[in-house]
Amino acid sequence: MVDVVSQPVGGTSSSVLGPFHNHDSQLQANGVDLTNGQAGERTWLHGRVVDINGKPVANAELDFWQNADNGLYPAQDPAQDPHNLRCKIHCEADGSFELLTIRPHPYTVPTDGPVGAMLAAAKRSIWRPAHYHVIVSAPSYVGLVTELFSAGSAYIDNDTVFGVREGLIVDFKPCQNAEVAKRYNLQAPFNEVQFEFCLVKQN
Ligand SMILES: [Fe+2]
Repeated sequence: MVDVVSQPVGGTSSSVLGPFHNHDSQLQANGVDLTNGQAGERTWLHGRVVDINGKPVANAELDFWQNADNGLYPAQDPAQDPHNLRCKIHCEADGSFELLTIRPHPYTVPTDGPVGAMLAAAKRSIWRPAHYHVIVSAPSYVGLVTELFSAGSAYIDNDTVFGVREGLIVDFKPCQNAEVAKRYNLQAPFNEVQFEFCLVKQN
């Protein structure tokens, strides 16, 4: 509720930060391939960062993270490189960005502490729907902490931490783009997710 009532009007909805963000994600070139041979449905995530008038926000930074094909974040899984499936990238002058990653998966929040006891007492589900985490920032704009949720994911209507917002639900569409397939050495069709992040100017 604090998240919902404290965000500026007019931009992309914010959502919860969650416990799996790291401050030391490495800056990668726009277009980076994060898959590194691991399991998971290849997904081309691309879009733009714009202001509330639809004009591109040049050189915005995206800080991106997600879970792996086994549903775990690197902090939960010693088998993963600590930097697996996370990065920072700088958008182009026209606000555009892209990267290659995998489809995220639903997962359970940890239940070994007081939050787990509270959820059990409330008889709430402990699951979150599949999502990407993104922080979008640019000089003189209000920073945006948000998530992109997979349409049709299990638990999309019952996120245990109430993070889902209608405008943050994205389709994973089958894509046949030959240029992108060649660039990332993909078998078509692969998944395509497109999203426009809208930032609000600071007062
Ligand atoms: Fe998450």
